[in-house]
Amino acid sequence: SAVYAEIWEGGLREDLREVLFDADVIHDRVIEMGRAITRDYTDKHPVLMLGILKGSYPFLADLARAVNLPVTVDFMAVSSYGAGTKSSGVVRIMKDLDRAIEGRHVIIVEDIIDSGLTLHYLRENLRGRSPASVEIAALLDKKAVRKGKELEDMGARYVGFDCPNEFVVGYGLDFKGRYRNLPFIGVLRPEVYS
Ligand code: XMP
Ligand code: MG
Repeated sequence: SAVYAEIWEGGLREDLREVLFDADVIHDRVIEMGRAITRDYTDKHPVLMLGILKGSYPFLADLARAVNLPVTVDFMAVSSYGAGTKSSGVVRIMKDLDRAIEGRHVIIVEDIIDSGLTLHYLRENLRGRSPASVEIAALLDKKAVRKGKELEDMGARYVGFDCPNEFVVGYGLDFKGRYRNLPFIGVLRPEVYS
């Protein structure tokens, strides 16, 4: 939007080498995803939108406002062991759900699927709690990363965009906790890492 364009002239925006998904593009796609969820879940209730902290917060906020159904919202915070930008597959639950999900239609809302290990673990964990169903809504999917691997098809029912194999920031995605507040998604300049 014009408002964002004005806010994000210069400043922190200069840390990006390239914008991959602009605010308008993200907005339009998230609205479409919300429409699809509204359609698919019309006869299913109760519906729980489960945001995975922290990366999903802008996506969940926008997506939930595009779903015209009586959903509830809850959060989990997970962290995969090991530092850096690679997932280890061992996932630790830092904050669990506030309420039981038994009998609920759960939609996991996640910022990005990379190796797929985090969501694979989460989905299995949630399935053990007797929900009515579990589906995944991910804004980005680094599909090419998983080519030929065990988790190649994560079976995410709702995916916003295919993401190139680059470390991306913005719209919830961070580097060392920063850049989550950008309304667009892009790639950092290499200098920023060092
Ligand atoms: P896996 O590999 O388990 O990873 O699918 C999912 C989690 O890793 C983080 N991740 C990223 N974070 N830019 C980020 O800011 C990226 O390009 C990126 N790729 C993976 C993210 O937290 C996600 O939940
Ligand atoms: Mg992160």
